[in-house]
Amino acid sequence: MDDPGIKKQNWDVKETELFLEILKDLDMKKCLDGRKIKMDPEMDSQLKIGFIGAGNMAFGIAKGILSGNALPANIKVSAPSSRNLGRFQELGVAVTHSNEEVVSGSDLVFVAVKPHLVAPVLTEISEHVTERHIIVSVAAGVTLATVEELLPENSVAIRLMPNLPCLVQEGALLFARGSHAKQEDGALLRSLLHRCGLVEEGPEAWIDIHTGLSGSGVAFVYLFAEALAEGAVKMGMPSALAHSIASQTVLGAGKLLRESGKHPAQLRSEVCTPGGTTIYGLHTLEQGGLRAATMSAVESATERARELGRK
Ligand SMILES: NC(=O)c1ccc[n+]([C@@H]2O[C@H](COP(=O)([O-])OP(=O)(O)OC[C@H]3O[C@@H](n4cnc5c(N)ncnc54)[C@H](OP(=O)(O)O)[C@@H]3O)[C@@H](O)[C@H]2O)c1
Repeated sequence: MDDPGIKKQNWDVKETELFLEILKDLDMKKCLDGRKIKMDPEMDSQLKIGFIGAGNMAFGIAKGILSGNALPANIKVSAPSSRNLGRFQELGVAVTHSNEEVVSGSDLVFVAVKPHLVAPVLTEISEHVTERHIIVSVAAGVTLATVEELLPENSVAIRLMPNLPCLVQEGALLFARGSHAKQEDGALLRSLLHRCGLVEEGPEAWIDIHTGLSGSGVAFVYLFAEALAEGAVKMGMPSALAHSIASQTVLGAGKLLRESGKHPAQLRSEVCTPGGTTIYGLHTLEQGGLRAATMSAVESATERARELGRK
């Protein structure tokens, strides 16, 4: 019998492939009201992309974009100091200390500075933002309303929430479109980011949940990996080997979960032999309240993201 989980996964993959095929055939000149952009594959190679901020997030996204069709010659990055710019130069990307230069030379601009710097940076670049621009903010807790308020009227803004595994092209990214961003603008961003990992679109209310689930969730998984390794150290395994096996276990379990499309409970039950080791271990985890603690962790992180967004 077909597994409904597998069906859903296959449908998602097929849908994505179909979507990318459609994007290839689309002439985005028609869709984007005169913005000078053509769609994938030529589109990504023609699009001028800017990054304001050269930190880990900008670097992760840039690496993902470059493993697609975007060309390093069409990307420019700005930061006040040179400390993070060298690694972009190694990718063949142009660097500058001028945010204005990035905006003036780009069609799509990622604003990747710390959340408290978004307002001064947007105020600084605002006079250079025109109707051809798509401004993509990745700052945690900064709402679309705030971004739109700081930009000229009718500006196209998108809020994107990535997570750290973008650095290895295995990110989980969720974006929400602002009031003047069209479906085609979202499609353009999705096409550009598809090599960064899983890219989904949703209402802005889901962005804070995504922050709890996936932005912070990465750290929850690290804590679990650390605890797994320490359990093995307690039982006598050398630390380096225990950490290496724990990280591979997390990687393998995650890959199997994504690729099989099965519900985690089903995969978990497939590992449990009646009366065997795994069910004994799972019983201990349930007694320790791992499930409830993890749900509460996502809840607390989401609430905190909401609270930061209100400040
Ligand atoms: N890291 C994550 O896991 C993660 C996940 C989701 C969202 N985010 C969001 O991504 C954003 C960036 O985070 P990050 O971890 O990449 O931070 P980061 O590593 O500290 O990088 C911040 C960058 O901003 C630059 N910068 C500071 N002031 C600037 C200005 N006035 N104009 C232009 N650039 C300026 C810094 O310049 P210097 O190089 O000169 O210091 C640095 O390159 C944050 O808003 C965060 O909420 C991060």
